[in-house]
Amino acid sequence: MQADQEPRSDTRWMTSFSYTAGPARVVFAPGAVRHLDLDVRRLGATRVLLLSGGRHAEAVEQALGPLLVARFEGAVMHTPVEVTEQAMAELRDSAADCVVALGGGSVINLGKALALRTDVPQIAVPTTYAGSEATPVLGETADGRKTTQRSPAILPEVVVYDVYLTLTLPVAMSVTSGVNALAHAVEALYSADANPITDQLALEAIRRLARGLPQIVSDPSDVSARSDVLQAAWLAGTCLGTVGMGLHHKLCHTLGGSFGMPHAETHTVVLPHVMAYNAAAAPDVMRRIAEALGVDDAPGGVHDLIVRLGGPTSLRELGMAFDDLPRAAELATAQPYPNPREVTADGVLRVLEEAWTGERPQGGSAVPKLTAQVVASFDDAPPRLRVLLQDLVRTLHSYAVRTDLTESEWLSAITFLTRTGQISSDTRQEFILLSDTLGVSSVVDLLTNSRSPDTTPSAVLGPFYVDGPPARPHGVDIAEGLPGVPLWVDVRIVDTHGTPVSDATVDVWQANEDGFYDVQLPDLDGPVLRARFRTDADGRLTFWTILPAAYPIPDDGPVGAMLTATGRHQFRAPHVHFMIAKPGFRTLVTQLFVQGGEYLDSDTVFGVKDGLIVDFVEQQGPTPDGRAVDSWRKVDFVFRVSQGV
Ligand code: BEZ
Ligand code: FE
Repeated sequence: MQADQEPRSDTRWMTSFSYTAGPARVVFAPGAVRHLDLDVRRLGATRVLLLSGGRHAEAVEQALGPLLVARFEGAVMHTPVEVTEQAMAELRDSAADCVVALGGGSVINLGKALALRTDVPQIAVPTTYAGSEATPVLGETADGRKTTQRSPAILPEVVVYDVYLTLTLPVAMSVTSGVNALAHAVEALYSADANPITDQLALEAIRRLARGLPQIVSDPSDVSARSDVLQAAWLAGTCLGTVGMGLHHKLCHTLGGSFGMPHAETHTVVLPHVMAYNAAAAPDVMRRIAEALGVDDAPGGVHDLIVRLGGPTSLRELGMAFDDLPRAAELATAQPYPNPREVTADGVLRVLEEAWTGERPQGGSAVPKLTAQVVASFDDAPPRLRVLLQDLVRTLHSYAVRTDLTESEWLSAITFLTRTGQISSDTRQEFILLSDTLGVSSVVDLLTNSRSPDTTPSAVLGPFYVDGPPARPHGVDIAEGLPGVPLWVDVRIVDTHGTPVSDATVDVWQANEDGFYDVQLPDLDGPVLRARFRTDADGRLTFWTILPAAYPIPDDGPVGAMLTATGRHQFRAPHVHFMIAKPGFRTLVTQLFVQGGEYLDSDTVFGVKDGLIVDFVEQQGPTPDGRAVDSWRKVDFVFRVSQGV
């Protein structure tokens, strides 16, 4: 037929491919392990080293009889070379001429590691669905680094699948190991090396897994379901050994190798999300997978299957730290590799974030899309407002995602904030209290203060400041006879060169001996323990008050409830507030803390700074203005304020 006569509508007709099958003998039979000796002899071997994880070793020992000369049970995950060295010593010492590897991926990999070094023939007897026995690939770890190599010497010569050995594989492991096999099949279908042979193997594997796994979950001893899944494991393992894998395997390899994530569980969590990532780039493959699974949408269908099987669905539940995701994304994209959709660090981070929360894949990432939409809605806002609101939206959305916020938690937060608003009034500011107890006020304060390091540190305003306090002359007693240890305050205000700042307004406020501000005491007649002074020509002011005591912040509202619910105390370290203002100077809001006072290390609003802890010196004898008191205290302090607005 001439080229121009080719039937264009049927592209399969034109398909060309290459397919390399591994030269292994595969025995698939219930009870096959009883005849293991025959396979050993068929290989011309007479001395067997048995590698096993312990389980089913007796059945194999019986079958091997005198052929068995040594055992090694030390195989561990990721095939560290030190362990391989120990097994090598056993192989040498026993002069074994054949290795039987009985177990899961770790044991089978150890057999491969021995074969790579010695070319000793191997018989693999898998007891899980990982599929490693069907691949000429070996992953080893040396000095904490995992490397992978491929060689014909690595492929086991014989694989014996005995379904009876899988009957005791715990359901949870059956599920994750089965999804691991599913991942091999899925990635084979969109592999750059995909061919009609592996396609058929992969699709058959998917069909058997979709049928068998739910049956195993409802009856773990169902031999025909176990048989289906074991065959699927072999078919999928053959795919894995024949064609290259894509993003999913790369990602799981990174998460296992660099973050210690468990192998099969990680495969289980990640698979639906990588499928969703690749879906638009491989629609035909997804359609075939969906058909084989018997669902409409392949990524969603795989997710639903895992949920139905009770498998893990989030990296979070596997112990992955959210903060490690960007590094994992970077590592997984450091080198290019074939994948239906271009692999970008951003894209992979999205996949990881979705896998971390475990939401059902939506055929694209739903939350990031929504976030982008809300962020864009502020595009035309005035510049600063735009920055503040867009970042707030990103932060809040990311918070909801990272914490997997439930609707009832969201509603509790709304109720909490509503109560915070309802209890607030002209004299009670519960929102400031909330900001204070969450440390937000102190963060803003630090940001502000760090811009002028030569000035006196600032400290939170607190909710008890009342604008426009009564103006008072120097030397007055702002305690107006309230009980307490008399305190003489003698302070100066200077600029950053030490020049006195005259005529500055200095507002002062503090709590009484019982820890209450006047605004908290409705029976009080007018303001007390608060005043406005003006500095004299020397930048100075003096007044009497009482020694402040530690006090609890108001705890009868939602903030108090939060502190109680979280086991935090409510106390502030003893202090006097100052607000210093003068046109042309930056207003300084700060507090002086009593050296030696309680709660300096655990102030509930995080307001204490070293530079503000001052000696309130005990005094006997005459007072500065001749006032007659027995014992009293005195505090001297120089506040430094900076010019500016
Ligand atoms: C205060 O010092 O007045 C205060 C500051 C923050 C929260 C509660 C009280
Ligand atoms: Fe206070």
